Amino acid sequence: MENKKRLVVGISGASGAILGIELLKKMQLFPEWETHLLLSSGARRTIQLETSYSIEQVEALATMVHRLGDVGASIASGTFKTAGMVIVPCSMKTLAGVASGFSENLLLRAADVTLKERRTLVLVPRETPLNRIHLRNLVTASDAGAVILPPVVAYYNKPSTVQEMTDHIVGKILDVFEIPMHGFCRWGEQPLK
Ligand SMILES: Cc1cc2nc3c(=O)[nH]c(=O)nc-3n(C[C@H](O)[C@H](O)[C@H](O)COP(=O)(O)O)c2cc1C
Repeated sequence: MENKKRLVVGISGASGAILGIELLKKMQLFPEWETHLLLSSGARRTIQLETSYSIEQVEALATMVHRLGDVGASIASGTFKTAGMVIVPCSMKTLAGVASGFSENLLLRAADVTLKERRTLVLVPRETPLNRIHLRNLVTASDAGAVILPPVVAYYNKPSTVQEMTDHIVGKILDVFEIPMHGFCRWGEQPLK
């Protein structure tokens, strides 16, 4: 466990919980990585409403599961080394918490720590259309160092299923952390083996 790289994965209550679930599944193929999972209360709802996964099944995909109220957990401290964090999907409420530094739960605290330690924080915001508050919060988070990676479908790889669209977005997220997802298709290149 000692030398493993660590990725904190937050799933919040925006539509697209499956993106977080698929990311956790892909991460299982990389035994050199640990995943530290946080589910917001909104995520518990969307997982039940949008997917066929139970909360227990989602949690079983992670190396470690942290409780939202446990602000004394390892990932609440900058001394606990991680490669960074992704919030996928990121609700507008959680975005607002990140942008304002309002660390009222462990998911927001872990994001705050990621930014203050100058580590990679990827936000996958999902809402449409966006109001001015959302847009301002996205700019604020970007200015603070977050990577804003909306779950936008790519067409250049000619996806024919929702799974392929989902996989491409997950591949884009993992690419930020230089994790080479099998099948990820870069423009002008063959899919990764
Ligand atoms: C099925 C469903 C879909 C939702 N989709 C979105 C969404 O796409 N974006 C968003 O910002 N909020 C969405 N919400 C609302 C959030 O879940 C709600 O604002 C919640 O309080 C967010 O809290 P959290 O960020 O702590 O999870 C959705 C709620 C439900 C039940």
